[in-house]
Amino acid sequence: MKEEIMFPVYIRSFGSFIPKRRVTNEELSKTVDTDDEWIRSHTGIGARHLAEDNEATSDLAEQAARNAVERAGMNLEDLDCIVVATATPDHIGFPSTACIVQSKLGLKKIPAFDVTAGCTGFIYALEIALAFMKDSHMKNILVIGAEKLSSITNWADRNTCVLFGDGAGCAILSTIESPRHLEDRSSRKFKEPGFIDSLLYSEGSGSEYLMVPSGGSKNPIMGGEVNIEDVSLYMDGRKVYTFAVRVVSETIVELLERNEMTIEDIDWIVPHQANSRIIQAASKRLKIPMEKFFLNIEDYANTSAASIGIACAEMQEKGLLKAGDVVLTVGFGAGLTYGGNLFVW
Ligand code: UT7
Repeated sequence: MKEEIMFPVYIRSFGSFIPKRRVTNEELSKTVDTDDEWIRSHTGIGARHLAEDNEATSDLAEQAARNAVERAGMNLEDLDCIVVATATPDHIGFPSTACIVQSKLGLKKIPAFDVTAGCTGFIYALEIALAFMKDSHMKNILVIGAEKLSSITNWADRNTCVLFGDGAGCAILSTIESPRHLEDRSSRKFKEPGFIDSLLYSEGSGSEYLMVPSGGSKNPIMGGEVNIEDVSLYMDGRKVYTFAVRVVSETIVELLERNEMTIEDIDWIVPHQANSRIIQAASKRLKIPMEKFFLNIEDYANTSAASIGIACAEMQEKGLLKAGDVVLTVGFGAGLTYGGNLFVW
């Protein structure tokens, strides 16, 4: 097992924002042909939170950012860069949601940009931010995963509408000169928090399995009648499910192997929250106890690029993350993209 962290950047704090409106499975079953039993047994989802009509992805992202900055005991002005991972930007094409968040936070003269990698977006954005910090004088980067999936959901399609929710999760990456806290790490393997490794992959040949068919440059919508199916999320659930079980397992194994670790070295696996059955299947395949996986899909459903940030923020808030814990994130989604990060808290 690797004994030291090579590059001194660490996650100083997580933050999140969950919209107030909670919609249970029972409520959904009043408007679409489904029921609580089917949704729970096929996905592990019990409810989802949905943003208001006048709330955009940038509003959710802004609130999550404020939450993380407050938890970190920093000032907004300390942020050197904003990266937003989202599949549901405020606008198609431009401006980026990150620029809108920057304006809402009142920040000037810093870079702000979006990353599009489907549900793997948060994992991609963390690694991009880390690379940025290596080659610049930046000290603090805000990475946000934010989604208003309800804005691309066809509420008449039971195959997809029961699966998704809205929300935002974020992380502040800082250089080690600004320590989060001075916890005692004497009994832990890693004496400092930081990043160990990341994996980022894509299998573009599967791009048609999860997409919004129209509205982009391939099928622009310029006047005429708009079919709801064309502008809402389409997913071949079975294809994505099979892909997900395979790549969750592969990612965990590759991250462990290339860092000379075993599963015993990992304290937490934080997976993208798409379906608890995907995680159970990977857990069985790799013989990893389910207790190692943090799951909160029951309360929030699948929030795409926001799900891992929301999960980590909840773990931080509940005190589940202990100084020195080794955390492995693993995600998959549209693209088809997948990957994971390995870091010490
Ligand atoms: O975050 C991005 C990545 N996304 C994912 O990872 C999602 C991956 N896929 C999945 O999680 C699962 O494939 C689903 C949860 C989407 C579907 O579960 P499944 O066990 O693969 O079900 P299925 O698609 O094979 O459908 C089984 C049956 C069908 O009925 P018939 O054709 O067998 O009569 C569906 O029509 O379940 C029916 N069904 C529903 N029934 C009640 C599909 N959705 C519903 C529903 N309520 N909401």
